[in-house]
Amino acid sequence: MKYFVRQAAFAVGVGILVAATSFGAAAQNPAEIAQRQELMKANGGAMRVLTPMVRGEAPWNAQAAGQAAASARDAATKAKALFPAGTGPDKGQTAALPAIWERKAEFDAIFDRQIAAASNLVTLAAANNEAGFKAGFAALGQSCGACHTPFRRPAN
Ligand code: HEC
Repeated sequence: MKYFVRQAAFAVGVGILVAATSFGAAAQNPAEIAQRQELMKANGGAMRVLTPMVRGEAPWNAQAAGQAAASARDAATKAKALFPAGTGPDKGQTAALPAIWERKAEFDAIFDRQIAAASNLVTLAAANNEAGFKAGFAALGQSCGACHTPFRRPAN
């Protein structure tokens, strides 16, 4: 009997230790937040290369266009895996809204749209298809807004 009591006390002790450890971790920003924010900055960088080119404000450059499209494709592929449960605004400094974890399938599907649109642009750039690239660019831009409007806290 004494043995079981001691075991139980031990289990409670371990429980408190585990709780204390995870509380300590929660006090820090989850690493995924900084990682996904970096990838989103890469998205922004890709758009800064592509937008003037598509508008004809910068000369068409198939190689630069292909690189930027590939960067947007890879950023979306990686970022999609960086929104695990427990990385919302209650757990860290993030503009991600709680709606992401309420409607995760919808959120992930918009990443898939970005990946598909960007992959299509990579193919068009490799074929030096300027007209096709410019026509396909809108789908990439729309994927950003389609996600930010419902799922990202607007900047104040
Ligand atoms: C499926 C959703 C989704 C898609 C698609 C998406 N974003 Fe985001 N974006 C977010 C979320 C959520 C945040 C906030 C991340 C955070 O703070 O943790 C964000 C943040 C950003 C930021 C701010 C990064 C920072 O913290 O400095 C930029 C810039 C950005 N996105 C650009 C883009 C561009 C450009 C595209 C399209 C090429 C794009 N995003 C596509 C969801 C998305």
